[in-house]
Amino acid sequence: MNKIYMDHAASTPVHPLVAEEMLRVMTGTYGNASSVHAFGRDAKRIVSSAREQIAAAIGAKPADLVFTSGGTESDNAALFGAAAARAEHGRHLLVSEVEHHAVLHAAESLAEQGFEVEYIPVDTLGRVSVDWIREHTRPDTALISVMLANNEVGTIQPVREIGAFARERGVWFHTDAVQALGSLPIDCADLNADLISFSAHKINGPQGIGALYVAPGIKLPALLRGGNQERKRRAGTENLAGMAGFAAAVELAVSDPQARRARTLALRAQLLDGLSAAIGESSFVVNGDPDHHLDHIVNVSFPAVGTETMLMNLDMAGIAVASGSACTSGSLETSHVLRAMNLPENVLNSAIRFSFGLGNNSEEIETVVKTIETIMNRVRMKR
Ligand SMILES: Cc1ncc(COP(=O)(O)O)c(C=O)c1O
Repeated sequence: MNKIYMDHAASTPVHPLVAEEMLRVMTGTYGNASSVHAFGRDAKRIVSSAREQIAAAIGAKPADLVFTSGGTESDNAALFGAAAARAEHGRHLLVSEVEHHAVLHAAESLAEQGFEVEYIPVDTLGRVSVDWIREHTRPDTALISVMLANNEVGTIQPVREIGAFARERGVWFHTDAVQALGSLPIDCADLNADLISFSAHKINGPQGIGALYVAPGIKLPALLRGGNQERKRRAGTENLAGMAGFAAAVELAVSDPQARRARTLALRAQLLDGLSAAIGESSFVVNGDPDHHLDHIVNVSFPAVGTETMLMNLDMAGIAVASGSACTSGSLETSHVLRAMNLPENVLNSAIRFSFGLGNNSEEIETVVKTIETIMNRVRMKR
């Protein structure tokens, strides 16, 4: 059985060129970038060149990037750092309801420490309202955190507008761009954000490495204390191979965006048209914003079949997709994102997330559509 991987929003395979670069670094460089001898200087060169490469690809200055262990740490550093830096100014935080748990759970922890967290609602397409944010921003608002694009439904948020408003009001603004990188053009200097989170493993880079963009002039207290690495903004011996791999992955992710986009859009259209033809348009619902979405994420509910049944049947057929819900103690918890979108119960309980990546092709989509048709028929016959 040929396995089909359509869960790239969860993680992506490491690109062979990325692996090659990492191996080169792992086998060729072993000094500590903090050491003054030649081995240390070699290591430092790798750190600097990775930082320069990534910064150039995303419209940042090298000094604005802090390497982290991934999206989770970047989000945590942004929230805890901003809260600590801004506590004197105010203890009110505005956080969207559809953020990744790396933001939401950090916000919950801050609430336990006495911060007042107010959740920004979304509409049925998963979009926040800039007007709502305007109305709820207060003189004591320390931080606004709204992701650039959602990992479950792909909805893109009006981040530039939110950022412009936040700047006007002197409020710090964080955006999680983990899913957007590689899918949308990113120009950090143009996003009006003070803090931007990135992760390598969503773009065919290695797991366990990411970055936080910290805009010029923003003084962010470090989450990790120790050595002077990352200009005292993140202590710990550098993950050399990870940084080199991240840089190689970013380079690939931003190259030839038109061709990449055309390929992904073709897969998306084939999946949705294929499903319409095979099971009928009325048998499924696409969740998210039809006009503002990441091309590679397609969240579909099949109300006749529960999420768990569909996931298990697809898995048995060798097809890996996601439920978009957290799996706790063997049972699926309804997704906080879909719930925030206020979708009907049968849509909530039957959502499946397909997410495409470099390896996917048209034959795979055909197989996926046929398999879903078979599963739907089987379930319908049982009724
Ligand atoms: C939007 C978003 N933010 C943060 C993260 C966490 O990133 P990492 O897995 O690198 O810790 C993810 C990963 O699923 C994500 O999709």
